[in-house]
Amino acid sequence: MKETQAYIERIRRVNREYQRLDLAVDDSLANIQAGQALLVRRIEKDYEAEVWDPYLRELWFPVEAQARSILVVEQRARQPFLPGQLLSIIGPVGSPIRLRQKLRNILLIAHDSSPAALLFMLSPLLARDVSITLVLMGAARQYEASHLPEALELIRAEDNLGWNDMVMTLGWADQIFVLGTPGEELASFAKILRLVRSRRTVLPPRFIYGMLQRQLPCGLGACHACMVNTRQGHKLQCVDGPAFDLTTLRLE
Ligand code: FES
Repeated sequence: MKETQAYIERIRRVNREYQRLDLAVDDSLANIQAGQALLVRRIEKDYEAEVWDPYLRELWFPVEAQARSILVVEQRARQPFLPGQLLSIIGPVGSPIRLRQKLRNILLIAHDSSPAALLFMLSPLLARDVSITLVLMGAARQYEASHLPEALELIRAEDNLGWNDMVMTLGWADQIFVLGTPGEELASFAKILRLVRSRRTVLPPRFIYGMLQRQLPCGLGACHACMVNTRQGHKLQCVDGPAFDLTTLRLE
C-alpha cells in the first residue's frame, strides 16, 4: 500500500442515479483485486506529498479495470466531479476476497446498498465461465442495472427478501457475497444469514461472506476504529477485511 496521485480522465453517466469515473492511476494499483479499495482525497495541483494525511478519506471500491492504469469507480450522479480532478489515493486497502478455486455458480446479494463493491469481480468470474446471480433487496431494488454485463442473472427480491426459485438459487450457489446497509451492515448480514439458513441447513466454511463498506478513518490498521468481533477474536476491516465469513462474525 502506498500513496500516489491520480486524476479523473473521463466521466460517463450510466443511469439516472450513477456515473462512472475513469481514474488514471499509478502502476502500483495495476494489480488491485476484488475486495480491495482505495482511500481517496480530492486535491489541488500544488498538493505536497510530504504533508499527506491518511485520515478521513473516502472509501472507493473499483468496479472495473480498463487497462493497466485505468480504474473505474461508480459514484452517485449528484456528486459533482470534473474531468482533470486530481486525487490523492492510498491503496490498495484491505485483503482480496477469497474466491473458491472450483466455482460454477456465485450469488451476490446487495441489501439496501448499491452493488458497486461487488462489481469488480464480474469480469474475472465471467472469464472463468462462472454463472453469476445478483439479487437486489430492499432499497437496492431501485438500482438500474442496464449497464451491467448481460450474462449476469438479475433478481429483484420481494418485500420479504424472498424471490421465485430462491431455494434453487441458494442450493446451486457455491459461494455467496453479501453487501448490507452501509454503516449498519451487521443487521443486514443477520437477516440474510437467517434467510439462507432457513433454506440451507449446512453452511460450510468460506461459503457465505459479508463485505463491510464502513468508512475507514485511517485504513492503515492504526486507529482500530474498524474493528469487528469474530469467533476468532477482533479483526480489522481495513486489514483482514472487507469480506468476513458470516458464520464466524458476531452479528449480535
Ligand atoms: S480504519 Fe483505522 S485501523 Fe482500520
